[in-house]
Amino acid sequence: MLSRIFTAILVSVVVTSSVILILPGSWLPFLSLDTLHRAPSLAQRGATVATTPLEIVPISLRTREYWMREAVTALHGLVSPCPFAAFGTVIVNHTSPDDLGDPICIGANAMSSTGNPTLHGEIAAINNCTAVLTDPKGIYKLSPAEVIAAWKDLTLYTTAEPCPMCATAIRWAGFRECVFGTSIETLIRMGWGQIDLPSSEIFERSDALGTKTRLLQDVLAKETDPYFAWQFDGAATCPVDCERDSGAGTCVPTADNEVDL
Ligand SMILES: *[C@@H]1O[C@H](CO)[C@@H](O)[C@H](O)[C@H]1NC(C)=O
Ligand SMILES: *[C@@H]1O[C@H](CO)[C@@H](O)[C@H](O)[C@H]1NC(C)=O
Ligand SMILES: [Zn+2]
Repeated sequence: MLSRIFTAILVSVVVTSSVILILPGSWLPFLSLDTLHRAPSLAQRGATVATTPLEIVPISLRTREYWMREAVTALHGLVSPCPFAAFGTVIVNHTSPDDLGDPICIGANAMSSTGNPTLHGEIAAINNCTAVLTDPKGIYKLSPAEVIAAWKDLTLYTTAEPCPMCATAIRWAGFRECVFGTSIETLIRMGWGQIDLPSSEIFERSDALGTKTRLLQDVLAKETDPYFAWQFDGAATCPVDCERDSGAGTCVPTADNEVDL
């Protein structure tokens, strides 16, 4: 990655300045046509990310990890400790750097339980939070206009990188932050059908919306990855509290977690 960025900067210097650099032969392998074609935009993207820091209360990694584990726990509560589609989300209000923050709602992928293909964990949580925040019997009782204004304070934690649909919804909402565990790249490597477009690219192309959402990647991925590793690899270890079903070979809750016989 560093070498790509370096190459990008180097190439953009070569492309944008009238100075002609003589490159040592050992650098030539970097300069494929593809690199030359993409380099200026890569360099520009790096600059965009670096020059637009968000004003945000500093939140410790410990707190980030706590909420990522809560996104995993949302799966336990809503589906199972090892659902096939282990996409869980929690939406949090980080009110001050000293507190953990307030959870507003949770969500989990509900496609197989509802048939609705848009109900990825993030969309399910956004729908759920909208309901929670506007509930006339709830604690918030917000109007629709107040809900629209509320997203900019909130952070969405999700077990895996938002797909283009969800990344777009997160940007339309104008969340303050989006934090994810397992990357799309890792999901694809593990055998998941995914649209191969990183959420960072959606975020970088959404400046015209007039809002900013900070993106934090790979938070606690070592703990979220196992939730996605077993579905297409019979040799992978099951997530915590789950074991291989001797018949179907899928990961199922261990007997201890089932109803006592
Ligand atoms: C989030 O926290 C801020 C700061 O305490 C508060 O003003 C805001 O109302 C909270 N938002 C929600 C939806 O609870
Ligand atoms: C919505 O979020 C609330 C609060 O976290 C939770 O109790 C409830 O189970 C969630 N409902 C759905 C459908 O995810
Ligand atoms: Zn999605």
